Amino acid sequence: MTRRLEIIAKHIKGGKVFADVGCDHGIISKYVLDNGLADLVIASDISSKSLQKAKNLLNSYGDKVQFLVSDGFKNFTITPTEAVIAGMGGDEIVSILEGATSLPNRLILSPQKNQRKVREILIRKNYKICDDYTIFDNKFYDIIVAEKGEDFYLELELVFGRDNLKLRPKDFIKKLSLEEKKFIKIFNENGLDGKNLDLQNYLEQIRKVLYEN
Ligand SMILES: C[S@@+](CC[C@H](N)C(=O)[O-])C[C@H]1O[C@@H](n2cnc3c(N)ncnc32)[C@H](O)[C@@H]1O
Repeated sequence: MTRRLEIIAKHIKGGKVFADVGCDHGIISKYVLDNGLADLVIASDISSKSLQKAKNLLNSYGDKVQFLVSDGFKNFTITPTEAVIAGMGGDEIVSILEGATSLPNRLILSPQKNQRKVREILIRKNYKICDDYTIFDNKFYDIIVAEKGEDFYLELELVFGRDNLKLRPKDFIKKLSLEEKKFIKIFNENGLDGKNLDLQNYLEQIRKVLYEN
């Protein structure tokens, strides 16, 4: 398992029905099955070709695992108690959460982009965000764990993730330092103008976190 998948796996509590949405290779499903964490694992993917990889990996687990071609939760007939949705963009995760008629009590999400939109929808859909931080595993990834409940996020928490601001993990500080350098280079090359206002605001937020806390 890669470091990213190991970290995701450690957040799985298990229970009655676990879903690995966008399972592709099926490694997360295998972890849940091998550790006896759930009564039933639903390995699902929008692509039957991707799902075939999970079928190949998990063909010895019998009726402990179900395979489902599904766009998000759309073809699910059972609401899982817990789900991992990882390795896709934040917009895709938002559309999966918007498109579901009912959602698991616990979600472990790892959006590759647009993390802010994922945090916003979780709060709008009455989730409490339990863990929210950045890790490095060849690239930077955000891990967002949420359970049904209520929550409120401040602006900077929406942008960067609450645990990143509270705990300042070294991977997160490394990401911000690299982004700061990257944006300074862009501004030095192109100058500051109205066209890159969003980037300028983002750079200010990065500096606030790096130097004012
Ligand atoms: C890069 S793989 C990630 C695999 C694994 N979850 C991980 O984190 O390593 C992304 C997978 O998500 C699937 N996918 C993308 N959009 C999806 C959707 N709306 N519903 C279900 N699966 C989706 C893709 O087909 C692909 O197999």
